[in-house]
Amino acid sequence: MIREPQHPLRVFSGVQPTGRLHLGNYLGALTKFVALQDQHECVFCVVDLHAITVRQEKSMLAANTREIAAAFLAAGVDPKRAIIFVQSAVPAHAELAWILNCTAKMGWLERMTQFKDKAGKDKERASVGLFTYPVLQAADILAYKTTHVPIGEDQKQHLELSRDIAERFNREYDVPGFFPSPEPLTQGPGARIMSLKDGTIKMSKSDPSDLSRINLDDSPEQITKKIKKATTDPDGLPSTVEGLAGRAGASNLVGIYAALAGCSNAEVLAQFGGQGWGMFKPALAELAVAKLSPVATRFSRYQNDPAELDRVLADGAARAHAISAPILREVRDIVGFWKA
Ligand code: AMP
Ligand code: TRP
Repeated sequence: MIREPQHPLRVFSGVQPTGRLHLGNYLGALTKFVALQDQHECVFCVVDLHAITVRQEKSMLAANTREIAAAFLAAGVDPKRAIIFVQSAVPAHAELAWILNCTAKMGWLERMTQFKDKAGKDKERASVGLFTYPVLQAADILAYKTTHVPIGEDQKQHLELSRDIAERFNREYDVPGFFPSPEPLTQGPGARIMSLKDGTIKMSKSDPSDLSRINLDDSPEQITKKIKKATTDPDGLPSTVEGLAGRAGASNLVGIYAALAGCSNAEVLAQFGGQGWGMFKPALAELAVAKLSPVATRFSRYQNDPAELDRVLADGAARAHAISAPILREVRDIVGFWKA
């Protein structure tokens, strides 16, 4: 990992509490969190301030927030090492977001593809929060002087913006190197898991078809059925990676196998090349069930223990506050706010 010498290495990432987690979140984000916690200081956040940029049912928000915390723990994030907390419980996020709103430019935000996707045709009716969403994301990252951010590929543009904001703040206030330029960590085979029904669009919690995704709490039977019904093409598996070109559904299934098995696409094809989907799909289903069942079991155990989740989140909020509060004090000084 690249590191600017003046900043200790620190990892931060966030997941929104807006519905069930799926295989894309698991492979693109959660498994990376687990791998990073052994070597680095890690801060993992349930971003409820981001969630309310679109209308949330009050009765669901707290439940969804605990659900993401349960998923972090079920995936193997260890709260003794990593910090797990809820964004709205730590004041630095909203406070720094305001300050950075005054550094970011309208034109930068207008280019954000996620805003265009989420706002749809009726931009006028989108919340202002949805528009400045990426600035809040930059605040999350910079409030901890984060150096590395594990995310799926869909978040790369937001990360670029965080870097632009950090650099502009440092220049504007003449504090070179005050905020680091955070690096995205998107490498690895799970960075872009696609819909099981259409290999050209990403697996997403907002897809109306449940057959398009594998949810973290799906039963082995559901997982097997969804893989069996996944869209492929009439050809079988090619023997080389080049043979996957232009075959979105096939690439996706091979990529999922590789990500779950922790190997490359080429290695998957060395094993399965030349076989038909009737052979490969059951093997993939068996692997997915073997990897995901223990996660699903732990997930439901944590979900049935809200008191334990609340203990983890309260401890995490205190630790996150202890890191971000002094950084915010520095920011207030840099900006020139009054202090007694
Ligand atoms: P979200 O649920 O949109 O808050 O995303 C949480 C994390 O999962 C982010 O790091 C996303 O980049 C990642 N992610 C979401 N969907 C996918 C996908 N289909 N493939 C890989 N990573 C994903
Ligand atoms: N925008 C991210 C997503 O939708 C979630 C997020 C919010 C995040 N703040 C973050 C990710 C900070 C990484 C770092 O997936």
